[in-house]
Amino acid sequence: MSQHISFVQREELKNKPSSDALGFGVHYTDHMFVMDYEEEQGWHDPRIIPYGPLTMDPAAMVFHYGQAIFEGLKAYTTPDGTVQLFRPDRNMKRFNQSCERLHIPTIDEDFLLNAIQQLLLKEKDWIPTEEGTSLYIRPYVFATEPFIGVRPSKQYKLLVILSPVGSYYGDQLSPVPIYVEEKYIRASVGGVGEVKTAGNYAASMKAQKEAEAKGYSQILWLDSKENKYVEEVGSMNIFFKINGEVVTPELSGSILNGVTRNSVIELLNYWGIPVREEKISIQEIFDAHARGELEEVFGAGTAVVISPVGELTWKDQTIQVNDKNIGPLSQRLYDTITGIQFGKTEDEFNWTVQV
Ligand code: COI
Repeated sequence: MSQHISFVQREELKNKPSSDALGFGVHYTDHMFVMDYEEEQGWHDPRIIPYGPLTMDPAAMVFHYGQAIFEGLKAYTTPDGTVQLFRPDRNMKRFNQSCERLHIPTIDEDFLLNAIQQLLLKEKDWIPTEEGTSLYIRPYVFATEPFIGVRPSKQYKLLVILSPVGSYYGDQLSPVPIYVEEKYIRASVGGVGEVKTAGNYAASMKAQKEAEAKGYSQILWLDSKENKYVEEVGSMNIFFKINGEVVTPELSGSILNGVTRNSVIELLNYWGIPVREEKISIQEIFDAHARGELEEVFGAGTAVVISPVGELTWKDQTIQVNDKNIGPLSQRLYDTITGIQFGKTEDEFNWTVQV
């Protein structure tokens, strides 16, 4: 797919936020990438235009039946000032897997990556340079056809917006208390849990709010069939270090194939630390703790990178992990992954792509 991307420059550029006031997903850059899909034309009219509101027909199908998917990745500034992405090919591939699952027309992965790179070049001045900051990239697609019969839309919009971000949580590596959810489920096999649909996140909001009201930061989701096996934590993949070995739930069909998840597994293999992808029950985790073998628990995702878990509550039992301190493996993974992302640690895996 080789279409020319047109460009309309914003007349007056926005003021950029200071790096200590970035937060996560609060500020947006001056321009965005937009492209449309019509059945007769396919994906067409790629353009970079000033960031701003969209006009939508109230009958647009996304509002009614939720055909919407997204991706999330980041651009980093390295010490020599170059800008790089971390394993973007994986996000492009998953973007299309998500599209396919919701019967949304896929897009040429190289074209989309190139469009993101062109947008980043236009918005280079927005990429923060301070330690721990980056530019979050959000590509997404949604159904725009004005029609309220139930069938796949015949029209879509694909956008890429950019947001300069600091850490996802205020104190990035501070271990969080989590709570094992038994009333609600995140996803079931055969559903859409293994791809990145907007609806997955919509379905988690109520449970997340209830957990927060009880004083927990995140939810540990169990499988939908037996309410027994661990799946994900909040919007992240989860890892347990038990007696020197690391285990993470296998990709069962309802678990997201996270880019950070895969990077953690590859790093552990490289370091010679045993790691297994398998079904793991919540009972096994509590048993391991009772034997004094549960060493570390952490979430892994693009937004947080690594998020240590300090406390785990299931029914009426609460256990503390590593005395609520950051474990050495969580810290090593965080330092190595962010080191590679920010160009401070040698990228032996060829994970980074220069913009
Ligand atoms: C991630 O970090 O991978 C996420 O999915 C979080 C994002 C939805 C903000």
